[in-house]
Amino acid sequence: MSKTMVVLGTQWGDEGKGKIIDFLSKNATHIVRYQGGNNAGHTLIVKKKKIVLHLIPSGLLYKNIIGIIGNGVVVSPTALIKEINILKKKKIKVLDRLVISKYCPLVLKYHVKMDKLRENFKNKIIIGTTRRGIGPSYEDKIARRGLRIGDLKNFDFFKYRLKELVNYYNYYFINYYNDKPVNFKKLLNKLYNIKDIFLKILKNTTKFLNKIISKKKKKIIFEGAQGTFLDIDHGTYPYVTSSNTTIGGVFTGTGIGPKNINYILGVVKSYVTRVGNGPFITEIFGDLNDFFYLKGKESGSTTGRRRRIGWLDIVALRKSIFINSLSSLCLTKIDVLDYLPEIKICIGYKKINKNNKFLDNFENNILNKKPIYKIIKGWNVSTYGISNFDDLPNETKNFIFLIEKLTNIPIDIISTGPDRCHTIVRYSFFKK
Ligand code: GDP
Ligand code: IMO
Ligand code: MG
Repeated sequence: MSKTMVVLGTQWGDEGKGKIIDFLSKNATHIVRYQGGNNAGHTLIVKKKKIVLHLIPSGLLYKNIIGIIGNGVVVSPTALIKEINILKKKKIKVLDRLVISKYCPLVLKYHVKMDKLRENFKNKIIIGTTRRGIGPSYEDKIARRGLRIGDLKNFDFFKYRLKELVNYYNYYFINYYNDKPVNFKKLLNKLYNIKDIFLKILKNTTKFLNKIISKKKKKIIFEGAQGTFLDIDHGTYPYVTSSNTTIGGVFTGTGIGPKNINYILGVVKSYVTRVGNGPFITEIFGDLNDFFYLKGKESGSTTGRRRRIGWLDIVALRKSIFINSLSSLCLTKIDVLDYLPEIKICIGYKKINKNNKFLDNFENNILNKKPIYKIIKGWNVSTYGISNFDDLPNETKNFIFLIEKLTNIPIDIISTGPDRCHTIVRYSFFKK
């Protein structure tokens, strides 16, 4: 039997999943994306060189690893080709070790246009999306009208369906948004010219993965995109993404069963960030916000937007732990907390208009609620790049022990910097 591990985000994305997956890939054989699309931005830093991946699984910098894009991922063919070419320029060839499910929904030009138009439209909820067309593509999938990447095989049928969809979207672009239509012929030609690149690597990835899991001795990482509170069902709806970023996404997005997952690692930043709109009870402003923004380099890996910042929210983290059945945590960016005189951790919420009632459940509606903080002493030294747990200052160890106590699960990995080598491993599942 193979060994399998899921690595997913426990907050609002950008927890440092990419860095940790790249680090863990040293001992892996396969990396599988199962949801989201090129709204993800996973940053890897190896020997001071930075690579941001959006659709390509994060382990592929290791040349022996096979990358799988499961059926739950929405694929923009143009974005994927762009990424493949960027990697090729860096002498990382991925095409011969990339497999894509033929059932992946496509993200096409009209999805991106719709996403942008909606975000710019007055008098409605503005999500603050990445404007990559992710929501509209998932909508087409759920409405059972979407085109899938495998449809490119029968190009006559593809052409017929594409025409219908372009007409459908153009009706809204012209009549509702008062904007230009998408040019069907241009889009069709573009897809015709690039289709052969994909046809060679399409597979029934469900069959492929189940076979590897049951018949071989491989080490497989399932790579989450976004984070728990951006989940379409369990997140801060409607300020969420359009996929299941929580554990269920692994099963629907690949076609493997829950019994086949052996270890679930939740990545948690030592503080919280969020890009886009939506409730954020521990949000901080002013000088401290600038401190985190500058020290943590908190601007979006995909859109470059400044991330919102807040203190670590244990109440939210506990929800993340039970929804995802986490085995353990990976705590990232503790080095960003270095030199802070005090560090806050949110341990509950207080209802401010009803007898100050204490709430220990995560609340999406934060109106009339305030976070309750436990304040701990910071450490006045640098932890940047430390790779041995014993070398951490006592105050940092106490911060780690406190999170373990408050969440009741172990912190197996600690990240002390953006580079692959800035990592402390207390327990290694693949090496066990
Ligand atoms: P992802 O979407 O979860 O993969 O995270 P992103 O790559 O979007 O954002 C995480 C950012 O933090 C990236 O710029 C990483 O290089 C950086 N990073 C990851 N881990 C650490 C860490 O432990 N310390 C510091 N200082 N930076 C880190
Ligand atoms: P990674 O994988 C952080 C956010 C957007 C917006 C909401 C919906 O790098 O952690 P969408 O374009 O998905 O319809 O936008 O979700 N969002 C992310 N925030 N990290 C991400 O991915 C995100 N992907 C989407 O900012 O609030
Ligand atoms: Mg990111």
